[in-house]
Parts: sequence; structure tokens; C-alpha cells
Amino acid sequence: MSNNNPTQKPEWQALLDHKNAHADLNINTLFKEDSKRFSEFSTSIDGLLCDYSKNLVTFETIDLLFKLASASDLEARRTAMFAGESINETENRAVLHTALRDPDTRDLEVEGENIFPFIHTVLQRLLALKKDLQTGAFTGHTGKKIDTIVNIGIGGSHLGPNLAVEALHPFDQGYFDFHFVSNIDGADLTKTLTRINPETTLFIVASKSFSTLETMQNAISAKEWMIGKLGDESCIARHFVAVSTNEQAVKNFGIDTEYMFPFKNWVGGRYSLWSPIGLPILLSIGHDNFRRFLDGAYAMDTHFKTAPLRKNIPVILGLLGVWYRNFWNAQGHAILPYSQDLDQLPNYLQQLDMESNGKSVDRDGNLITDYETAPIIFGQPGTNSQHAFMQMMHQGTTLIPSDFIGFVKPQNNYQNHQTILLNNMLAQTQALMQGRTPEETSAPERTYQGNHPSTTLLFDTLDPFSLGMLLALYEHKIFVQGVIWNINSFDQFGVELGKEMAHMIERGENPNMDGSTDGLLQAIHAKSKV
Ligand code: F6P
Repeated sequence: MSNNNPTQKPEWQALLDHKNAHADLNINTLFKEDSKRFSEFSTSIDGLLCDYSKNLVTFETIDLLFKLASASDLEARRTAMFAGESINETENRAVLHTALRDPDTRDLEVEGENIFPFIHTVLQRLLALKKDLQTGAFTGHTGKKIDTIVNIGIGGSHLGPNLAVEALHPFDQGYFDFHFVSNIDGADLTKTLTRINPETTLFIVASKSFSTLETMQNAISAKEWMIGKLGDESCIARHFVAVSTNEQAVKNFGIDTEYMFPFKNWVGGRYSLWSPIGLPILLSIGHDNFRRFLDGAYAMDTHFKTAPLRKNIPVILGLLGVWYRNFWNAQGHAILPYSQDLDQLPNYLQQLDMESNGKSVDRDGNLITDYETAPIIFGQPGTNSQHAFMQMMHQGTTLIPSDFIGFVKPQNNYQNHQTILLNNMLAQTQALMQGRTPEETSAPERTYQGNHPSTTLLFDTLDPFSLGMLLALYEHKIFVQGVIWNINSFDQFGVELGKEMAHMIERGENPNMDGSTDGLLQAIHAKSKV
């Protein structure tokens, strides 16, 4: 067992003792005892109020959590990330998605290359493509203007752009319609192909590796469809562009590298929407809004880097997550945006969090046996969530901490809807905390304990800047937890095994075939012949 095991730290033990001594901690009592609790347990930065007063914490808890963070070298790890050190040790890579939103032009060398000129040159090329598409300098094969964009990608090459294009639709400039194809299920591609005109469609093949099975198969089928419709292989040059780190594979696919937009291995897939992977976002909201989006993330980076731990929102959120996961045995964590435009946020954060911190081997190569890592992330926008799974959060037997995310001003004309929406958000956090005591109702089935923790993130409005802040906030929260848990948040080897097995099943070479998988395979073969 290495010394970096967090459970071996005295600060961890102190938290365990603290939890045991306060197992009956009650948030309602804490409010009754301290009239200033809201202001003491909330913190703000420009455009964002983070209220964590409805959590199962006292001053002492917070103090002990900050001590654990310091004992885990959080500040040194954070400095190493921003400085471009190879903190993704298993892949020997720097982790520098933060550089993509940094407006600076200082020198920062990674693998022998000064990265800021590279980032800004690629952004200029993306802007030139956007301009050419809009002016008609770049047309489709038959000379018609492009008015439809189809992004083909999966995971990090899909979820971020899909989320941001949807969330920021009030800022869409109106030049293009957007479609996203990700699933290898042919239904996904079919649905899109039946809705678009080949003559006016541009496919963006988005894949960091340019080898992901789903993306490659969808891209090949889209290419065949396009050639079938326009009758000539040369049409590909006017209807396909690529975003990737793999120039050779892009060439092999038949896309002119003039229309390949590169990024580097120091951008993880699930952290890549700030890179050229964000091309659909740029095409939708335009350069100024895209810059605002990057600026929002940069503002959060600056806050994360410079704010004292006690005022640091990603640090606070990360530590609260550790508190519940490791000391209260919480298995899930709910993401509840009170914004229909953030419909895709829970999906996006599922990959960001669970692919980053769903690990059971620590940074020293030890199997983790004595503490938990990533929780199950799930969620849905309110108020829909209230009519789906919230019953279980209110009255079930499992503790589920949650993040409520609200926006004071709507991006639509229905202020009265927004008022009701926000009232519902507040009512949920209050009901989770207060519950209903037997004294308040005579029916036992109507009683519930309450004391369920939640954190509320209240933004002024949902716009490019606040969305940038929000997403960067979760990136850093996840980083903080990875540091405490002594895991590498930036690799994802667990995804590989299933991919390899899919290839083996396809090739009919499966030395480890088991009875169930074999039985199912035979059933599929038999039924598909009927
Ligand atoms: O899901 C596994 C994964 O490797 C993710 O990390 C990544 O975002 C996704 O596949 C897509 O990868 P690529 O961009 O290389 O196609």
C-alpha cells in the first residue's frame, strides 16, 4: 500500500472520527442554531452564487476537508496541471484544455512546440471556414450554399458540442441547421439522412483518434450516401471536413487536410469542446459568442487557480462530493439543471465525471480496495425530474446529494414560467432538507425524514459566458476529487476492454467466449436468418 492512499492520512482519519461523532448531524438544526448560515456557507463570483448551506457540514467539517485537500497536495497538483506538466502519467501527456480558453499569448512549450500560436492559428482557420461557408466562397459540390451541419462523433467528440449548441440556441446566428450522429445503431444516421439535403450538407467527422469504430462506420456510410446522391467521389471534398489529432487517418479516409482542423494529445476527449471539436458551437453562435464561452471558462480557471481554498467553488464542490461519497456512503449524485436548454448537461457530466474518476487503480498502480471513487452521476432538467426520479430522492432509502442549477433571467419571453420554474427549484431543495415530520401529518406514508443535502448554483442567465463557467467548474471539481482519491482522472483504459471484445466478436475470434455470450450470439445468428 503506498503512502499516497488517502485513507492512510491522519486528515482522513480525522474526518472519519468527525463523521462518527456527528452521525446525527441535521441541516435543519444547523440553520436554527445559526441565523447567518446562508451567508457563511455561500460564496459568489461574477454572475454566480454558490449556496452550499443546505449541506451536512459544520465549520469544523469544512475545515477538516480543506486540511485533507492540503495534505493531498491539491495546490501543487493544480499548479502542475496549468504549467503543462505530464500529469496524465499513464499516457505521459500534459493536460492543457485550460490553455484553449486562455487569451494569453505567452510561451508555453509542450513536447517541443509553443502551444499558444498553434491554438490561435487553428482558431483562425476555423473562422475562415465559417466565413467561407456563410459567404458561399465554400459551396457544396453542385454549387449550392451549405445550410446544414452534421457532426459525426461520439463521447467527447459529440456530447460537448451537442450540449452547447442546444444550450445556446438563443444565440444561434441562423446560418445552419445542426444534426448530431453518434450511435453505431443505423437508426441514428438514418433519422438524420432522411431530414437533410445532400447538396447543402457539410459533415464534420469529429474524432480525436480517427479510429473510433462508431464514428468511422457512420462516416463511411455517410460518405457512401453522399456519393450515391451526388454521383461522383469528388463530392467528398466539398461535403466532409475533419477534426482530429490523426492526420494520416484523415488522409486515408479521403478528406483533404486543408479541411482538417487539428488539436493535440494534451486535450482529453471529454475535455475537448474548447478545441476544434467545438466547431459546431462556433458555427452556431459565431466568433464573439464563442470567445465569451471561452472567457467564461477562463474566468473559472482564474478563480480556481487564485481563490483561497475556502472561497474556491470547484474546491468546495469537489470536497463536498468526497465527504458524501467516502464518509456518508452516497453512491449517486444528481445533476438537476432548472433549464430545459441544459437537457444534455447530465449526459455530458456523466462522461466527464464517470470516465474521469471511475477508477479502481491509483496513481501508484495499486488496486483501490478501501475507499470509493466516482459516484453514479445522473439527472434531468427540473421540473421534469420532479415527475420522474425525485420521489426516490425525497423518500427512498438512499442518500443522494444533488446540485441544483438555476438562472434568474430566462432567455425567452416567459418570465412567468421562469418564476414558477425557480420557485419549484427552491421548493425541492427546501423539501429535501426539511422533509415532513410525523407531527406535521397523521399519515405515516406522508412523513419523511428530510436532511437530504443539496447545493444550489444560481447564475444570472444562461449565456455563452455562464455556460463556459459552469462546464469549467465541473472540470475542476472532478480534478479536485481525482487528486484526493489519488487517481489519474485523464486516462480511460476501462473503456478499452469492451471495444477490443467487440472487435473480436466481429472477427469471430473470441478465445474467452463464455456460455451466455455464445448462446446469445447463436440466437442472433439463428433469428437473423429467419
Ligand atoms: O468512450 C471512450 C472514448 O475514448 C472517449 O474518451 C472519447 O471521448 C470517445 O471515445 C471518442 O473518441 P474519439 O474522439 O477518438 O473518436
